[in-house]
Amino acid sequence: MSFNFDNVTNRKGTGSVKADGMSGYFGTGELLPMWVADMDFQVPDCITGALKKRVDHGIFGYPLVTAGFYDSIVNWMKKRHNWDVRAEWVVFTPGIVPALTMSVMVYTEPGDKVLLQSPVYPPFFSSIKDNNREIVNNTLVEEGGRYGIDFDQLDYLLSQNVKMMFFCNPHNPAGRVWSAAEVRRVVELCNRHNVVLISDEIHSDLVFSPHKHLPAAMAGAGHSNMVICMAPSKTFNLAGMASAFMIIPDKNLRRKMQNLLQNLHIHYGNIFGLVALQAAYEGGAGWLDALLEYLKQNMDTVENFFRVEMPQIRPVIPEGTYLVWLDCTGMGMDDSELREFFIKNAGVAMNPGTAFGPGGEGYYRLNAGCPRSTLAEALGMIKKAWDKV
Ligand SMILES: Cc1ncc(COP(=O)(O)O)c(C=O)c1O
Repeated sequence: MSFNFDNVTNRKGTGSVKADGMSGYFGTGELLPMWVADMDFQVPDCITGALKKRVDHGIFGYPLVTAGFYDSIVNWMKKRHNWDVRAEWVVFTPGIVPALTMSVMVYTEPGDKVLLQSPVYPPFFSSIKDNNREIVNNTLVEEGGRYGIDFDQLDYLLSQNVKMMFFCNPHNPAGRVWSAAEVRRVVELCNRHNVVLISDEIHSDLVFSPHKHLPAAMAGAGHSNMVICMAPSKTFNLAGMASAFMIIPDKNLRRKMQNLLQNLHIHYGNIFGLVALQAAYEGGAGWLDALLEYLKQNMDTVENFFRVEMPQIRPVIPEGTYLVWLDCTGMGMDDSELREFFIKNAGVAMNPGTAFGPGGEGYYRLNAGCPRSTLAEALGMIKKAWDKV
């Protein structure tokens, strides 16, 4: 079956953060939106079909998380990641950011240390800080345009009474799909130092061959002290459906999380999110395979463009995700000049690297999850502005 990812769909006026929320963040709405991590592609027909059917039923009472929902996740994990998940390990969550925050709330105490590795997705910071826990940062290291983990430093930091680690696996914004050896090492160190590992694997389906995602729970050192966070939201462009899940093999950790979800009365999700998740996992594999090919070509387009047209920007080549981390240090501008350049001169809305914490200075994150014509337009606008500098 063929899918058309070249179709441009106007998102303005649909109440989307990406298309309609720019003035709040950038001070103007007149920009080409290449920020916020959702894609400009319509979802596969299997999802819209299932949603339409549910709408036609006309009754939208309290939903039940059904056996079909759990089975679709169990089967997806087996097929895409060769991971044998038990249905009882799966815990619904309205999102992964709530899952991070809830993990901080149930598995740590105020004042406890939680480790992250910057530059990283901004809510990693806020979910720790806003809950009065202490951030410990094992900053990633960049060598030859590729990011890695400083394992000696990680070992040391985890030994300093850290209670929990947030692991972005694959990594946003560095685009790393951590190798099996790297994932194993992280798991082993968390086990050694008795640290609860929260592995955010929201990007795990968006991985370019030959790279392979390894769920932290399959890393061989046992999975008793970890929570794996996953969702169809990045994979199938369903972020607005607020439907995600945690896989928590350990009974104790799972019960604590379930208690909080029930306490907050958010354990049963919403009808459309549940339907969309199940439909995606049951029928979306072919669409995803085609999407990955399209995204890979988008990544190649970005890489070739900057190499040939504007080598002052150096994209970090992503091994997964649809996000490209752009090293703009070669432009010779500080962060406020970069902002002025991209927003005022080029008119392209991208996430500034500074939002991703230490290590983000001089970088911008480009969302390439869009039709190629939109991508070409954005790249052209950046180049046109650069030619005038
Ligand atoms: C690493 C990571 N975690 C979580 C999220 C958002 O998760 P949710 O929308 O389910 O809260 C994102 C979105 O970009 C992300 O990149």
